Amino acid sequence: MMEKREHWGSTFGFIMAGAGSAIGLGNIWKFPYITGINGGGAFVCVYLACIFFIGVPVLLSELALGRASQRGPIGAFGYFSRKSSILPKVIGGFGLGLSAALFAFGSNGLALMVGLIGIAFLVKGWSVAGFCCTAVAFLILCYYIIIGGWILRYAILAFAGKLSFATATDATGCFLGMAGDGWLSALLTIGFMVPCAGVCYFGVKKGIELASKIMMPVLLVIIFVLVIRSLTLPGASKGLEFFLKPDFTKLTTQGLLEALGHAFYSLSLGMATMITYGSYLPRQRNIFSAGLWIVLLDTCVALLAGIAIFPAVFAMGQSPAAGPGLIFNILPLTFNAIPGSLGWLWNGLFFLLMLIAALTSAISIFEPGVAALMEHAKFSRHKAVIVTAGSATVLGMVICSSVLTWERIPGVEALFQTLTGACRASLFEQIDYLCSSWVLPLNGFAIALFTGWIWGVSRASRELYRRGVPATTLERTEKIRSLFFMRLSVSFWSIFIRFIAPVLVLIMFLYAAGIVKFTK
Ligand code: TRP
Repeated sequence: MMEKREHWGSTFGFIMAGAGSAIGLGNIWKFPYITGINGGGAFVCVYLACIFFIGVPVLLSELALGRASQRGPIGAFGYFSRKSSILPKVIGGFGLGLSAALFAFGSNGLALMVGLIGIAFLVKGWSVAGFCCTAVAFLILCYYIIIGGWILRYAILAFAGKLSFATATDATGCFLGMAGDGWLSALLTIGFMVPCAGVCYFGVKKGIELASKIMMPVLLVIIFVLVIRSLTLPGASKGLEFFLKPDFTKLTTQGLLEALGHAFYSLSLGMATMITYGSYLPRQRNIFSAGLWIVLLDTCVALLAGIAIFPAVFAMGQSPAAGPGLIFNILPLTFNAIPGSLGWLWNGLFFLLMLIAALTSAISIFEPGVAALMEHAKFSRHKAVIVTAGSATVLGMVICSSVLTWERIPGVEALFQTLTGACRASLFEQIDYLCSSWVLPLNGFAIALFTGWIWGVSRASRELYRRGVPATTLERTEKIRSLFFMRLSVSFWSIFIRFIAPVLVLIMFLYAAGIVKFTK
């Protein structure tokens, strides 16, 4: 007999936790930047389409899968697939075929990885998909906490008034000094890991839900304050133009795929997160509307982050940079330069915003590992939290030693070199690349296929609309009234989850593998 599963205390709490997971570094750091270079408003349109047509169906599937099975990913996939035996074999065979193709294209390491997954599918069936989701969540956690640690330091420095660089070179020097200093990064990583593990230690309702209910409203208030400050700066319109003016000529096929990949990442899909969070939903709550709220909040925050960042960057005469450079080098200078000598406050608020976003997301990447240990190794929550936090911190330390270069761990570089042919600049980048470009789409593919074809759209859609038994006549009339809308959206949803989402995700995967190439 399974122990009674913990549950969210309220729908509001669940929405806050789900939005906390979705709203993360992806929204505040990556989205504004990739939008700027991919043609502004044109890219936003494509991104919104990806969110609506692929993100929403897959998110709803993940939540429904978790809720219906009341299990984490490994258990959920196993729970619904007992009787079906053909598709895992087909997938296993497909994996082996793909592995051979990758081998022919010279990616030996990936060929090995895909081949192993193929064999695992042949032997163990669908639970392997759940295992892959959980494992990749753990790997992502190991480097997400490093970035979290840096943000923690910058937030403290900002409020202490010590983030006042005179030139871009000073700012870059400060960031590179920190990222290159393995010990400092390691210490900061621990500093970030402790509150993250601490929240999970207190469980679903008293830990994750409570923390999200406090932190998410604070995040929303801060982002509005920053948006208003940024938009009221003289010269702000140039930034808005850079961010939002549609320029369809800059939109490339690569940009389309980037939008699709980012839709997955931003909604926390393809990893164990949303299945696990869904499994904490009690039966009588409506997943459909809660899921839509999460998507709405996530998308709004991504757009608001861009509106908070670019007008300020342009108004202060800075130029928008890529990746970590934008957040750690350009923004401290930008916010400092805002007239009124409140630079420390704007910087502080911005890094606090990032810290909250990173923390609630890290918690959601942490929880699947904990849930898996509790379910499958029968650990108590406390023990599971300690084991997950300990092992993620140890692996995080190894990654800390190779953030900018491989210098300190040449052996590991050689290993990756043999496996993958070409290496990224460091272990940090290598793991990020492997997880987000490869494993997430692959998992997304598995989830869409599983819900659409194995669990079946009719059962899945019943789960989506479950609302408890209508008690009063009024409730019954209301139910009948919403029936038409329900039928319509379910038919839409089933087409997307069965055909469109798997095909698009597969194209994205083949593109990442270099098997499909686009010229523009
Ligand atoms: N969605 C988060 C962000 O935008 C990151 C994240 C949290 C995530 N949990 C995830 C990404 C699960 C993929 C899968 O930063």
